[in-house]
Amino acid sequence: MSYNLLKGKRGIIFGALDENSIAWKTAERVHEEGGTFVLTNAPIAMRMGKINELAEKTNSQIIPADATNEEDLQNLVAQAMEILGGKLDFVLHSIGMSVNVRKGRAYTDEKYDFTAKGWDVSALSFHKVMQSLFKADAMNEWGSIVALTYMAAQRTFPDYNDMADNKAYLESVARSFGYFFGKEKKVRVNTISQSPTPTTAGQGVKGFDGFINYAEKMSPLGNATAADCADYTVSLFSDLTRKVTMQNLFHDGGFSNTGVSQEVIDEFSE
Ligand SMILES: NC(=O)c1ccc[n+]([C@@H]2O[C@H](COP(=O)([O-])OP(=O)(O)OC[C@H]3O[C@@H](n4cnc5c(N)ncnc54)[C@H](O)[C@@H]3O)[C@@H](O)[C@H]2O)c1
Repeated sequence: MSYNLLKGKRGIIFGALDENSIAWKTAERVHEEGGTFVLTNAPIAMRMGKINELAEKTNSQIIPADATNEEDLQNLVAQAMEILGGKLDFVLHSIGMSVNVRKGRAYTDEKYDFTAKGWDVSALSFHKVMQSLFKADAMNEWGSIVALTYMAAQRTFPDYNDMADNKAYLESVARSFGYFFGKEKKVRVNTISQSPTPTTAGQGVKGFDGFINYAEKMSPLGNATAADCADYTVSLFSDLTRKVTMQNLFHDGGFSNTGVSQEVIDEFSE
C-alpha cells in the first residue's frame, strides 16, 4: 500500500546489491511512496550485483562511489543534486563488510590491516558520507539520514567478530554528527538496529542459520524482514518523525528486550 509519504522528496540510497539487500527493498518502497533517488554502490559491486535492474524498475540513475573515498562521495553528492534537481531530503547508508570475517579470521586473531579496512568501509564511511553532505550543504531542512546497524554493538555475539566494534562506532557517529546536523541544518540522523536478515552481508556471518532461527524464537513478533525494515525506513524519511534524531532504534520484533522466550525454554526442558 502506498501513502505518498515521500512525494516530492529526493535522496541517495547506498548499498543495493541484489534483491535480498535491505537497500534494494528500501529503494522499492521509497519509489512506491513517491520519492526519487540516485542509487550508488562500490564500483566493484556494480559488476557483481544487479543494480541496473533496480534502477530501471525505480526510474533512477546509478552513480558508482566507493564510500571510503572522499572524492567519490563529493562527486556523488554534487551529481545527485544535479540529477534530482535540488537539495536532498533523505540518505540511506546500508553498507557493511569485514575482511576478517571474509577471510575466516577469529576475533582473537585479527589481522589489523583487515580490521582497519572493514572499519573504514562499515563505520567511518558513515562519517565520510555525512561530512560530504554537510560541507556541500546538500540536505534540505527536516531531511533524514539513516544507517543500518546490529545489536552486537551493545551485546556480544561471538561470530559477529569485528563488525560488533564497527557497529558501535557507527552508532556513535550517528549521535555525534546528529548533534551538528540537527543544530546547524535541522536534519535528523538515526541508526536502525535490524534483526538478522538473509542477505549477502548477513549470510557472511558464521553460523547464520542457527543465529537467525534463534532470533526468530526469541522475538515475540518474530524477526523483522528486509521488507519490514524498508517500511520503517520510509517512516523515518517521512515528515511524521521530524523530531526523532540521534537514536539507535531497535527494529527486531522485540528481541532486544526479551530475556528468554517460552520456545527457547522448551528447547531446554525435558
Ligand atoms: N543482514 C543482516 O543480518 C543485517 C542485520 C543488521 C544490520 N545489517 C546491516 O544492513 C546493512 C546492509 O546490509 P545487507 O544485509 O542488506 O547486505 P548486502 O550485502 O546486500 O549490502 C551490503 C552493501 O555494502 C556495499 N559495500 C561494501 N563495500 C562498499 C564500499 N566500499 N562502498 C560502498 N558500498 C559498499 C555492498 O556492495 C553491498 O551492496 C549493513 O550495514 C549491514 O551491516 C544487516
